[in-house]
Amino acid sequence: MSQPLIVGNWKMNGSLAANVELVQAVVAGLPRVTARAAVCVPTPYLAQVQALVAGSALCLGAQDVSVQQSGAYTGEVSADMLREFGVRYCIVGHSERRQYHRESEVEVALKAKRALSAGITPIVCVGESLAQRQAGETEAVVKRQLAAVIHENGHCISEIVVAYEPVWAIGTGQTATPDQAQQVHAVLRSQIRAATAHPERVALLYGGSMNAANADELLAQPDVDGGLIGGAALKAADFLTILRAASR
Ligand code: PGA
Repeated sequence: MSQPLIVGNWKMNGSLAANVELVQAVVAGLPRVTARAAVCVPTPYLAQVQALVAGSALCLGAQDVSVQQSGAYTGEVSADMLREFGVRYCIVGHSERRQYHRESEVEVALKAKRALSAGITPIVCVGESLAQRQAGETEAVVKRQLAAVIHENGHCISEIVVAYEPVWAIGTGQTATPDQAQQVHAVLRSQIRAATAHPERVALLYGGSMNAANADELLAQPDVDGGLIGGAALKAADFLTILRAASR
């Protein structure tokens, strides 16, 4: 892995006024960190945040993309449209979309493909529910989710980012222990190794209540290359603390 990567997932949060304050504060703190940084913002704010990050090292990201290229798909946003706004990363298959929008593994894989073909790096989310963890199915679930994306994207798989987000840890304040995170990351790493000649290009992010207090020990794990941050990405000071932890 090259530089660690810290990505904020704003989810459905923000306002024109709040975004200015948040992005300006993050950008102001960036010269003191070496980790790569991005924020995945709600679609209506892409143009605003594109302008706010211009000239800085903070990259712009989106939270979803259509499986379709263009046409009669009311409400959908295409990868080419995202690209026009300078989008560099796009989250695909977040558990909230798998759950509330019934996104299937095949759809997630196709979304990753659309992003890649537009020159956007998909951040593919995988993760088990609490019931699946308790049933001892964690490895099988994350491997199956990632396998669908590998199957659809072939040699391009070296161009994706993978985020391990245990569903029971998202927005709950309950974090995977560093050991639990490392265990799953090691499984994902070996799956990536088997799928590409350039596994070192694929960053493995941990997500699920990563915050300013626990980032250090999670990021210290050998197979944790960064984080996908929800709640803590909405506070500039916390997001910068995580970025600094990733820069050590
Ligand atoms: P959280 O969200 O940090 O608020 O748990 C992470 C995510 O869902 O990407």
